[in-house]
Amino acid sequence: MKYGKALMATLLLATGNMLYAAGGFTYKKADAPVEDRVNDLLSRMTIDEKIGQLNQRSFYEGEEAMKMWQSEVQAGNIGSLLNIVTPDNADAIQKVAMEKSRLGTPVLMARDVIHGYKTVFPIPLGQAATFDDAIVELGGRVAAVEASSDGIRWTFTPMMDISRDARWGRIAESFGEDTYLSTRLAVANIRGLQGEDPSDPTSIAACAKHFVGYGASESGRDYNSTYIPPRQLRDVYLPPFKAAVEAGVLTFMTSFNDNDGVPATGNRALLKDVLRDEWGFKGFVVSDWGSIQQMIPHGFCPDLSNAADRAFNAGVDMDMEGYAYISHLKQLIESGKVSMGDIDNAVKNVLRVKFMLGLFENPYVVTPQSVKYDQLHHCAARKAAELSSILLINYGVLPLKGVKKVFLTGPLADAPHEQMGTWTFDGEKSRTVTIAKAMRDQFGSDVEIVFDPCLTFSRDRSTAGIPQACSKAAAADVIVAVMGEESILSGEGHSRADITLPGAQNEYLEALKATGKPLVTVVMTGRPMAIPRVDEISDALLYVFHPGTMGGPAIADILFGKVSPSGKLPVSLPRFSGQTPLYYNQHATGRPATGKETLMYDAPIEAPMTSTGCSSYYFDAGFGPLYPFGYGLSYGRFTYSDLCLDSGSYTPDGTIRASVTLTNDGDMEATEVVQLYVKDHFGSVTRPVRELKQYSRVTLKPHESTTVRFELPVKELAFTGLDMKYAVEPGDFTLYIGGSSKADLAKDFKVN
Ligand code: GLC
Repeated sequence: MKYGKALMATLLLATGNMLYAAGGFTYKKADAPVEDRVNDLLSRMTIDEKIGQLNQRSFYEGEEAMKMWQSEVQAGNIGSLLNIVTPDNADAIQKVAMEKSRLGTPVLMARDVIHGYKTVFPIPLGQAATFDDAIVELGGRVAAVEASSDGIRWTFTPMMDISRDARWGRIAESFGEDTYLSTRLAVANIRGLQGEDPSDPTSIAACAKHFVGYGASESGRDYNSTYIPPRQLRDVYLPPFKAAVEAGVLTFMTSFNDNDGVPATGNRALLKDVLRDEWGFKGFVVSDWGSIQQMIPHGFCPDLSNAADRAFNAGVDMDMEGYAYISHLKQLIESGKVSMGDIDNAVKNVLRVKFMLGLFENPYVVTPQSVKYDQLHHCAARKAAELSSILLINYGVLPLKGVKKVFLTGPLADAPHEQMGTWTFDGEKSRTVTIAKAMRDQFGSDVEIVFDPCLTFSRDRSTAGIPQACSKAAAADVIVAVMGEESILSGEGHSRADITLPGAQNEYLEALKATGKPLVTVVMTGRPMAIPRVDEISDALLYVFHPGTMGGPAIADILFGKVSPSGKLPVSLPRFSGQTPLYYNQHATGRPATGKETLMYDAPIEAPMTSTGCSSYYFDAGFGPLYPFGYGLSYGRFTYSDLCLDSGSYTPDGTIRASVTLTNDGDMEATEVVQLYVKDHFGSVTRPVRELKQYSRVTLKPHESTTVRFELPVKELAFTGLDMKYAVEPGDFTLYIGGSSKADLAKDFKVN
């Protein structure tokens, strides 16, 4: 009998393998419904193979390492590998998975392709400054095509953390402070990455991250706790993620922060109740790097087994480099702390994405290597850099027309690595076209470009080169000083308490100003910086968030007037570090600033305590940003007139139709980002002073006018009220249309 059973088992296995080999299994049939394939494969998996699918490891090279990876993959212990970046390694691993693992389940190869792979686009904060969904989508598409040529089919982007604190280094990776802008651009990026058909070999799975609230890290210090109340969570931080689910994003990533004491990686209310039950998300959730294990130092879990238990039961499907699931899930199942049903659901989520990506049919690299740095990709990156550049000041100095000699200087004028910005793992600095190179190549035949960086890097505190540099500046017609931050000064783990220009940059700018020559300052950075003095002494100020591979040609074209700048601030620029967090759509408070307050140095000695103004402002810094969200100039001169609404009152299921006349009174074709804001004058809870609800890019020739129209469903005015219900509340509203969050062309209306 003993042999009988063994014989039967062998026969079954052999039969199964024959069927499998003949592709007879449903999961091997490309034309079978995905869910049938998922369920069929699941039914054939052992518990170890199931747990293996929930385990993500970070690849590292080496002969011995490769043997280890292939052995682990053959055993079915790895569902995904991140940081594999050569087609040979990817295919070698995949070959083992497809041909030697028992069921031939492909490995999902992943990489952080945050704003481009080989062709590097502006950092996401710069892409946000374009207010251009199409260019953000195109950037995602280009990144996906290039990454897929190295076997990457999953990336950990878009990051859609609402970021209101300029001290936080990861503001660089965000789309800024506004929920509406971040939502639109995150969805655009997902469309670009995942393409029309995720199973296309050039499509890669996007990842909605970091779920949720990471951008509210207290005091802007990375990884710090957050204290986001439920209503703000619903109305400010969650909307981009909800939209990502509706856009079909295939994966989510939990965030490092604990919110009100609960780490996001162990937050069942968010991961099950909201993400799955309320929103119906069908993809899978991956932890952030080690964030399961990090619930131990959080003080949320006593040990790794408990961390695995709490993360898994909260709804985290895959463990990124935490070794928690591969080490403890089996024992947790045996002890009954984790149910087999939940394991099956998690595995199905992962398998579903793999089937949707077509990995079983196309496990190997098919995208040709030639796509990397394709000239069309460079053109797209150059366009993105151009659209992301924000002109804040121009006292008639720009564009540089008729100048014969330009003194180009500053630590970021010829900095190919820095120009790419943070989270640029795979861009090659040799491909970067710097501002210095572009100015020489594109305009050097007509204009003498004298270049001396003076400061060799942004943190350079040496002032020794300043006198010589200034003598060169004095001999030129105009100074172009490219200042700002090296890329390492923003991004993960790089929050700054003092967000002013580092090193001796301020001293150097003062010396340049003292030469009396027109001073064009380009600030290239990963964050909103506090630059009030730069604002005072510059004759022109161009603000650029690390613009990527083609930033040089784009900025040179703008400086010399081949194109007009059109970028708008996706974040408020503070006057002082101490103002952060700072954002336009704050609540009015009971004592709004009046602008008539007495500032600290204007107060008389022994001034009576209440004589200087008892309103919400800083005694030393006043109130408000240096430049507001949505602000940016161009070489045109835009005026707004004739704002009209199709009614004075609306029902909650109605649509507001607004129109405005936009005129370009300037002498150059230019593009304006027309913005529509709404103020809700009162509600069952206090409301933001105004909120962005629509935007549109409009290009006009000199002296051309057009009517810009918007349709705004009244339901877009909904918010989470006192009763925690999301609804439109009747009341008085004002609609504004203009070129920044300070738009003052207004029309009142009611919702009944
Ligand atoms: C990092 C980041 C996350 C990234 C992941 C993989 O720590 O928080 O955004 O995608 O690890 O590199």
